Amino acid sequence: MPTILSGVQPSGQLHLGNYFGALAQHVALQHEPGEHFYFIADYHALTTSKGAAELRERVRDVALSYLALGLDPAKAVLFRQSDVPEVTELAWLLACVTGMGLLERAHSYKDKLAHGIRPSVGLFTYPLLMAADILAYDSDQVPVGKDQVQHVEMAQDMAGYFNGAYGEVFKRPEARLPAAAAEAKVPGLDGEKMSKSYGNTIWIFESGKALKKRIGAIVTDSRPPEEPKDPEGLVPCQLLKLFLSAEEYAQWCERIRAGGPGAPGYGHLKLRLQEAIEQHFAAARAERERLVQHPEQVERVLRDGAAVARARARATRDRALQACGLR
Ligand code: TYM
Repeated sequence: MPTILSGVQPSGQLHLGNYFGALAQHVALQHEPGEHFYFIADYHALTTSKGAAELRERVRDVALSYLALGLDPAKAVLFRQSDVPEVTELAWLLACVTGMGLLERAHSYKDKLAHGIRPSVGLFTYPLLMAADILAYDSDQVPVGKDQVQHVEMAQDMAGYFNGAYGEVFKRPEARLPAAAAEAKVPGLDGEKMSKSYGNTIWIFESGKALKKRIGAIVTDSRPPEEPKDPEGLVPCQLLKLFLSAEEYAQWCERIRAGGPGAPGYGHLKLRLQEAIEQHFAAARAERERLVQHPEQVERVLRDGAAVARARARATRDRALQACGLR
């Protein structure tokens, strides 16, 4: 039976990219045979933390979101990364067999630099901790969005370096992308990848006026509705595609391509998107509101999850220490 594991950073409100690239997959996969581990990557979030109170709040928010979206603690282990400190120990062991060059090639790190983010050592060594997360649980599959695939490949490399030096300790993991390419890389309001660090996100549970305002900010151009256009090149369409049935989406595309008096304007597309988002998350939004009233339930899930996860990570840590001569 495969072990399936993934993590989400509590570094801001979870957005549509996190949902389609990761959480929706995670919730769906829990019904497949295998062991399922999902965690809140709070050690990783320290690379961009805005203070203790906010971090605590964000951690709670990710847990609430997972449960509201349907993650079932009887099927999947949900836990906080920092409840398993063994991963930081494993990250050090991996650091000692990994060359600087590998980390220097990380797209996500280079991307952050290009966006003017001043890097800490933690940001630079981020893939080491992520590899430790993956390898600690003997993960076979890591369901992530496209932006994290390189990090999973780095975990494969690091497992190989360690095993090459000390014998077979770590299992080789594989990234698992959502079936639809549109879900693996969701665009943000500006058409770039939707990302907390770029401020171009739509929160999963946004609704009403606030949602309308976010959707209003999606980039469009000044071409009139009558002008025929390629729908795939329009950000509102790229987002609509994620929510509509294939038939309905095809109908919108046909009208946009044809242009003329019957063609929808950007305002129409945005209105349909708002309705679709409200509807898609209505049940989860209600469940989230219920869970907010029961913080003890959420805390219990995280505590129970940590106990299971930690036992597993300890065994891997012990194996690794033994192999490299520290036991
Ligand atoms: P994070 O918190 O940035 O993102 C969480 C998940 O959401 C996916 N994602 C997207 N998918 C499609 N389109 C987008 N625009 C989009 N934005 C984000 C990400 O691919 C990810 O699957 N390093 C990880 C957290 C982590 C982790 C791990 C993941 C730490 N350790 C071990 C897997 C295994 C991260 O920052 O994800």
